[in-house]
Amino acid sequence: MIKVDISNVWGQISLPDLLAIEHEVAAAHNTLAQGTGAGNDFLGWRNLPVNEPTEEMKRIQASAEWIRENSDVFIVVGIGGSYLGPRAAIELMQGCNHNIGKGKGNPQIYFAGNGLSTRAWNELMRLLEGKDFSLAVISKSGTTTEPAIAFRGLKWLLERKYGTDGAKKRIVAITDPNKGALRQMATEEGWETFVIPPDAGGRYSVLTAVGLLPMAVAGIDICKVMKGAYEAREYYDNLRSFENPVWLYAGVRNLLYRNGKPIELFESFEPGFKMMGGWWQQLFGESEGKDDKGIFPVSAEFTADLHSLGQMIQQGERNIFETMIRFNAPENKMTILGDVKNLDGLNYLEGKTLDFVDEKAFLGTLAAHVDGGVPVITMDMGELNDEKLGEMFFFFELCCGVSAYILDVNPFNQPGVEFYKRNMFRLLGKPGYEV
Ligand code: PA5
Repeated sequence: MIKVDISNVWGQISLPDLLAIEHEVAAAHNTLAQGTGAGNDFLGWRNLPVNEPTEEMKRIQASAEWIRENSDVFIVVGIGGSYLGPRAAIELMQGCNHNIGKGKGNPQIYFAGNGLSTRAWNELMRLLEGKDFSLAVISKSGTTTEPAIAFRGLKWLLERKYGTDGAKKRIVAITDPNKGALRQMATEEGWETFVIPPDAGGRYSVLTAVGLLPMAVAGIDICKVMKGAYEAREYYDNLRSFENPVWLYAGVRNLLYRNGKPIELFESFEPGFKMMGGWWQQLFGESEGKDDKGIFPVSAEFTADLHSLGQMIQQGERNIFETMIRFNAPENKMTILGDVKNLDGLNYLEGKTLDFVDEKAFLGTLAAHVDGGVPVITMDMGELNDEKLGEMFFFFELCCGVSAYILDVNPFNQPGVEFYKRNMFRLLGKPGYEV
C-alpha cells in the first residue's frame, strides 16, 4: 500500500490542527461514499475497478491484440481526460522513449489531437510515412475541437491508404454510449466502439477503455491494473481514520492551503513519471480550481528541475508545499566505475550504484527544502508494477474527491474550461457563437 509520510510538515501545521480537521475529512469521505455531495451524478469511477476481467475488458484485449498484429503505429486521438491517463500509464511503465525499437506486433504509440500545433501535426505525418497504422479516437462529449480536427485528417489518411472498408477496421471510437457527434459517426460508419460511462467524468475515466485500450496495445496487463485499483478501493475507501493515507494526504494538503500554501509541487525522481504528473495536475486542477478557491497544482521532475525550479523552491516566496513521490529502485543496477586518472573527482563514488546516489539526492533535497521553510509530504509507492499503476490511479482519484469536498467545491464539474472555447468558436465563426 502507498505510504504517506507527513513528518516533514510539522512546524507548518500542528498536531491540534490535524486533529481538528479529522471530522472534516471524515465528513468529506462520507459525502463521497454516500453520494450526497455536489456532482454526485459523476461517481461512476468509484465502481470501475474489478477483480475479475469483465466482458468489456476481454473485448478491449481482443481489439488491442488486432491492433498490435496489424499496426506499426497506434495513435491515440484525444485531449484532457481523454488522453493524459493512458499517456501517463505508458510512459511510467515503459519510459518516455517507449517507442524506440517498436513496430508491428508491438506498435509505437503516439498521441494526437491534444493541441492545435501545425508543427506537431507535420511531425506526425512524417512519423506515419510508410507505416501501417490504426487509431483510437477518444472523446466523451464527442464534440471537442482539437481531437475532432486531428481525427478528420487521420481518417482521411486511413481511407486513402486502406480504402473505406479497410479504414473502418482501423478505427476504434471511445465515447458516450448515446450522445455526441462521435457516437453518431461511429454508428453510421460501423466502427468498433467502447463506452465512457456517462457517470464517469473525463479526468476520472482512466480505468475505462479510455486508459485500458491504449495500455493493452502497449502490452500492459490491464487485468493486473484493474486488480490493483480494485484492491486500492477495498482498502482506501473502507479505512476511516488517519491511518488511511488518503485521509492524511487530503487533510494535510488542505491544512497547508489554509496556512498560506496555495501551490503544490508534485514531484518524482523518475523521468517516466512526468505525464503522471500531468494526469495528477488535470485531476486536481480541474476538480478543485473553482469558486475562487483551489490549490494550484504544478508537477516537476527531479533532479532535472532542481536545476531550474530549485532556487525558487529554496528561497522564493514561501507559498508552496511539495509532494514527493518515491518508488523502490529497480533490480537492474548501474554501478559507478573507478577511473585511474579521476579527473572528474568521482572516484569517491566508485562501486556505488546510481540508485544509491539518487537516494542521497532525495534525502538531501528533502532536508534542504524543509530547512528552507517548505513543507514536504512524501509518498512511498513501493515497487512499480501494473498493479501499482491501478492502485495509484484509484488512490489519487479518491484523494481528489475527498480533498475537493473538504474545500467545499464540486470535484466533478469544470465550468471554467468552456470560456476559452466560446471565444475561440466566436473568432472562428462557428455557427451559434456570433457576438
Ligand atoms: O476532465 C474533463 O472532463 C476534460 O478535461 C475532458 O476530458 C476534455 O475536455 C476532453 O473532453 P472530451 O472527452 O469530451 O473530448
